[in-house]
Amino acid sequence: MIRGYAASEPGGKLEPFEYDPGPLGGDEVEIEVEFCGLCHSDLSMVDNDWGMSQYPLIPGHEVIGTVAALGAQAKGLALGQRVGLGWHADSCMACEWCRTGNHNLCASAKGTIVGRHGGFAERVRAAAAFVVPVPEGVEAGSAGPLFCGGITVFNPIIQFGVKPTDKVGVVGIGGLGHLALLFLDAWGCEVTAFSSSPEKESEARKLGADHFLNSRDAEALKNAAGTLDFIISTVNVLLDWEAYLAILRPKGRLHLVGAVLQPICLPLFALLPGQKSLSSSPVGAPPTIATMLEFAARHHIRPVVETYPFNQVNEAIEKLREGKARYRIVLARQGNT
Ligand SMILES: NC(=O)c1ccc[n+]([C@@H]2O[C@H](COP(=O)([O-])OP(=O)(O)OC[C@H]3O[C@@H](n4cnc5c(N)ncnc54)[C@H](OP(=O)(O)O)[C@@H]3O)[C@@H](O)[C@H]2O)c1
Ligand SMILES: [Zn+2]
Ligand SMILES: [Zn+2]
Repeated sequence: MIRGYAASEPGGKLEPFEYDPGPLGGDEVEIEVEFCGLCHSDLSMVDNDWGMSQYPLIPGHEVIGTVAALGAQAKGLALGQRVGLGWHADSCMACEWCRTGNHNLCASAKGTIVGRHGGFAERVRAAAAFVVPVPEGVEAGSAGPLFCGGITVFNPIIQFGVKPTDKVGVVGIGGLGHLALLFLDAWGCEVTAFSSSPEKESEARKLGADHFLNSRDAEALKNAAGTLDFIISTVNVLLDWEAYLAILRPKGRLHLVGAVLQPICLPLFALLPGQKSLSSSPVGAPPTIATMLEFAARHHIRPVVETYPFNQVNEAIEKLREGKARYRIVLARQGNT
């Protein structure tokens, strides 16, 4: 049996829960969990914001742990090795997207906490291809958030060829946003942080922001018109996207990774004259996660975390709900705090 913390209804508190995982699949890995980050998507899944939650639901998809068991066909990993697991736990491995290293775009990719139990538990399972070794130089206690938050903001840098000479913006300085500041600064870009929390300014600058603007201040946004090449937004609410598109230079891109639920309505002429793009993307594929980890190790990029023991998971969730996490909460198994 695997013991963890599960919600039994939408919005419900997490309670101790255990389940029988059955026999280990041939291509599967069982991870002994040491740490697990708390992503806003865990909250959205607990609350069933996206209509795909199944209860009881054990959240947790920013897992760090060690390999406890390997299926007969699970290649490339060793028992006891330190590994991580993010949003995806499996995919078809046969489609065009899986075969070209774009597993996160596979139509049958399986979420670690969608119809299966996640990492707020003693152990968690995933297909071996989705379990990525944690390299030397990446500290286990703070690495979990790289596996969802980190890859979600790093992947677009690779996908769209963001250049070190680019001027870029990050909207929303939370779990994902603070990692975007760290990555884009290390990438070489001139970085503007857009935040609705003025008290985050000095920390945002320490994380790599060269400029700091209020994300909801119409006048500040207007004054920044025509200055940036790439803007990534991590907020899950509607902002004045037309004003953000106006901040882009010609050929610029506004990339939304925050899960905005409302429809986005824009005049085409916010895009057309400057050949601008509006786009979005889901996390990133395992090979890109490995690239990100190597880059993070080389540039000493470390998520800023607040660590809670697993048995305080409900307090941790409340803190994130209130927008008070600085900047990512990580749950630690007993003995790891
Ligand atoms: N695309 C993907 O694959 C992917 C992967 C992971 C997560 N996500 C989604 O990304 C979003 C962010 O996740 P997270 O874990 O980073 O959440 P988070 O830590 O709560 O950060 C979100 C940030 O958005 C800003 N914000 C929140 N409410 C706002 C409002 N009313 N007006 C303006 N700004 C507001 C805040 O930053 P300031 O205080 O700086 O304004 C907040 O810190 C979630 O929707 C999550 O589900 C998507
Ligand atoms: Zn596939
Ligand atoms: Zn996540």
